[in-house]
Amino acid sequence: MKRARANAPQRLPIRAAAGAALVVGMGLLSAWAFAQRTEGSAGAAAAPAAPGVAAAGGAPGPSADPLVERGRYLARVADCVSCHTAPGGAPFAGGLPMKTPFGTIVSTNITPDRNAGIGTYSEADFARALRQGVAADGHHLYPAMPYPSFARTTDADIRALYAFFQKGVEPVATRPTPTDLPFPFSIRGLMVFWNWLYLDSAPYAQQAAQSAEWNRGAYLVQGLGHCGDCHTPRSRLGGVKAANERDGDPFLAGALVDGWYAQPLRHTDRPGAVQWRTQDIVEYLQTGRTAQTAAFGPMVQVVENSTQHMTAEDLKAIAVYLQSVGAPAPGATAGPASPSALRAAATDTPEAKKLRDGQVDGVPGSMVYLNNCSACHRSSGVGWDNTFPALAGNSVVNAKDPTSLIRLVLGGSAMPSTARSPAAIAMPAFGWRLSDADVAEVLSFARRSWGNRADAVTAAQVAAVRKTAQAPAEPTSPAR
Ligand code: HEC
Ligand code: HEC
Ligand code: HEC
Repeated sequence: MKRARANAPQRLPIRAAAGAALVVGMGLLSAWAFAQRTEGSAGAAAAPAAPGVAAAGGAPGPSADPLVERGRYLARVADCVSCHTAPGGAPFAGGLPMKTPFGTIVSTNITPDRNAGIGTYSEADFARALRQGVAADGHHLYPAMPYPSFARTTDADIRALYAFFQKGVEPVATRPTPTDLPFPFSIRGLMVFWNWLYLDSAPYAQQAAQSAEWNRGAYLVQGLGHCGDCHTPRSRLGGVKAANERDGDPFLAGALVDGWYAQPLRHTDRPGAVQWRTQDIVEYLQTGRTAQTAAFGPMVQVVENSTQHMTAEDLKAIAVYLQSVGAPAPGATAGPASPSALRAAATDTPEAKKLRDGQVDGVPGSMVYLNNCSACHRSSGVGWDNTFPALAGNSVVNAKDPTSLIRLVLGGSAMPSTARSPAAIAMPAFGWRLSDADVAEVLSFARRSWGNRADAVTAAQVAAVRKTAQAPAEPTSPAR
């Protein structure tokens, strides 16, 4: 992957163009913009941009107009509120600063106020903003606004969203500080090049060979749900490497976002979420947890503000679609063992027996595990259902990229609080008491025990994450 990234610019037709360097800058900028949107807040704990917004839906009570209610639902699917609400601010009034190394991009007010918001937008203006990234006055939006995904939205859904944003949202007259990036990033016209490379503004096209459920899932994942904005790796120019399953292996193959690793949502050579039971994926998106695992990092906000509000049918459609992506051909050699099979076998592994007997000599990391982790995750690594995730067979523990693991251990984390599962059960931070070498050892131990098979973690990797994530210096329960 590294090599592909390094080579990417050479393959681009605009390489010779005079503005190429600027375009590269713009692309990186957009990647950063997205990647850092919760910057300045302590990881998962920080997630909800506006606590309470999820429940309120950001609107004056339910409307009698079914079109407005349909739009309210779609706005939750798209999670418009998370980006367009400042911490503690009015829903959709904008003002969330998204820090980038090039300056700060501030989200705009999308309430129907005629001066500060989008009250004067026609439906056509609104459609153009969502599908082409162009505001009503003609200026180009930065792709921190996920219009390349929203472009998949059908006319009918755009109409419902428009109705909601005009009639279902309280107008707010405050104008957020305008985004003012330094030159050359201030030249919004550069986005024309970027859009030429990355924007396909055609709405989702139904695939006749697939079921209605599959198509619904594909529509939600690729479009309003914009799952790939976090879960698909980006090219050097900041565009996602694949926008749908037909674009090949990079689609939903896992990517770093906001200093966390967004897990692969497709079949790979490791145990992954797509091997869970379909119902487990639905439950995870509804409650942020399953018997074996729990959401953390930026996924906490996605569950709290967006997926927990989706219907069971839509979540099942999403699961069915995801489980088809990259699926091995029938009869192909067996893929990786499933997470549940690994967990079921974990209790009888030699590691589990040794830990139970307190034998930690000569096994690096096992002493650190016994002293710090086994009380919750148990000597067998199977955890406790819906409370403490299983480490055996866990897709996060087996992930190629250990960034999330390191960050969790250094800084701790809390599960999402949802209507169905309100308890935000937390894992404590260990960064204040474990050295880089300790963390590397205990994670390496977890990654090769109880049937897990993943590469060791090095102290240098831990040190690098510690630098960027700023683990708490003292014991704190993860702030929420
Ligand atoms: C991942 C973050 C994110 C999400 C999700 C998001 N937006 Fe945005 N949006 C932004 C940012 C950032 C801007 C400002 C971009 C700029 O100034 O170039 C923006 C700008 C806009 C604008 C242009 C307003 C103007 O006149 O300046 C509209 C309209 C808009 N968003 C609507 C929506 C709607 C509707 C949704 C949900 C369907 C949504 N956005 C979801 C980040 C987001
Ligand atoms: C803002 C970024 C972001 C968006 C948008 C996002 N995710 Fe995630 N997601 C993450 C991160 C980071 C993780 C890793 C944390 C974890 O596993 O809990 C994750 C984890 C997951 C997992 C668990 C994977 C595993 O192996 O444990 C599932 C399932 C998932 N996401 C589904 C989705 C779906 C479906 C969508 C779109 C509706 C979506 N995500 C949108 C960031 C995001
Ligand atoms: C007090 C109980 C507790 C202790 C002690 C504890 N954890 Fe956790 N752990 C949790 C909880 C709760 C979560 C879920 C957090 C979330 O989703 O935000 C978790 C999540 C995890 C995860 C992510 C699994 C997933 O599917 O989400 C890993 C990996 C992990 N812990 C490893 C460790 C390691 C290694 C140690 C010892 C250094 C440790 N934990 C100590 C409670 C604990």
